[in-house]
Amino acid sequence: MGQLVQKSCFFLFLFLFLICQSVLASQKSLRHRKPCKHFELYYHDILFNGTNAANATSTKVANQSLPGNFNFGMLVVFNDPITKDNHLLSPPIARAQGLFFYNKKDDYNAWFAFTLVFNSSQHKGTINIMGADLMAEETRDFSVVGGTGDFFMTRGIATIRTDTLQGAYYFRLKMDIKLYECY
Ligand SMILES: *[C@@H]1O[C@H](CO)[C@@H](O)[C@H](O)[C@H]1NC(C)=O
Ligand SMILES: *[C@@H]1O[C@H](CO)[C@@H](O)[C@H](O)[C@H]1NC(C)=O
Ligand SMILES: *[C@@H]1O[C@H](CO)[C@@H](O)[C@H](O)[C@H]1NC(C)=O
Ligand SMILES: *[C@@H]1O[C@H](CO)[C@@H](O)[C@H](O)[C@H]1NC(C)=O
Repeated sequence: MGQLVQKSCFFLFLFLFLICQSVLASQKSLRHRKPCKHFELYYHDILFNGTNAANATSTKVANQSLPGNFNFGMLVVFNDPITKDNHLLSPPIARAQGLFFYNKKDDYNAWFAFTLVFNSSQHKGTINIMGADLMAEETRDFSVVGGTGDFFMTRGIATIRTDTLQGAYYFRLKMDIKLYECY
């Protein structure tokens, strides 16, 4: 009887030990994993200013701004061209379709949610991206929360950086996209 208890205790401990090991190992491998896809893209946004309808790619749909200079409450819908280099007039390889709004009273700060829609001979499918644009930081991380087609069920991180800001009506973001799940 005593031997049996001893034996089962031994196996129980062995079992727990192995579980701990595999949990630790998987945490480690997640943290040090290399991306399965990595690419850089440029996002161009031309805001409608009242007269540039032909070229605008985004428009404010609400501007219940609080008093102040930081557009708190302004909501912008966009369908923006995505290019491989930083030239606005390069042929777009995808569109970014989505929205952002400003959400800080005492500084510029925004929140983004959009889909990169690829429809070319190279890539077909979508990548869904969202997150806080903490504009005081030089680089900001958005979450890649999913995808379809060539990017089926993908997840990862899109690190963005403001590449240029021209007045109130044009800005360009450099997006460094690292996908950690590819199927
Ligand atoms: C649209 O862009 C083209 C090419 O950059 C430019 O020649 C034209 O003046 C722009 N039109 C408007 C309304 O901004
Ligand atoms: C809007 O943008 C166009 C093109 O950049 C520019 O020619 C025009 O003067 C701007 N209009 C206003 C009201 O800022
Ligand atoms: C939004 O509204 C605020 C306050 O009325 C104004 O200062 C700002 O210029 C507006 N932004 C745009 C893009 O129209
Ligand atoms: C994708 O491209 C094809 C070929 O150019 C076109 O027929 C189709 O309408 C496009 N689809 C979307 C969703 O833009």
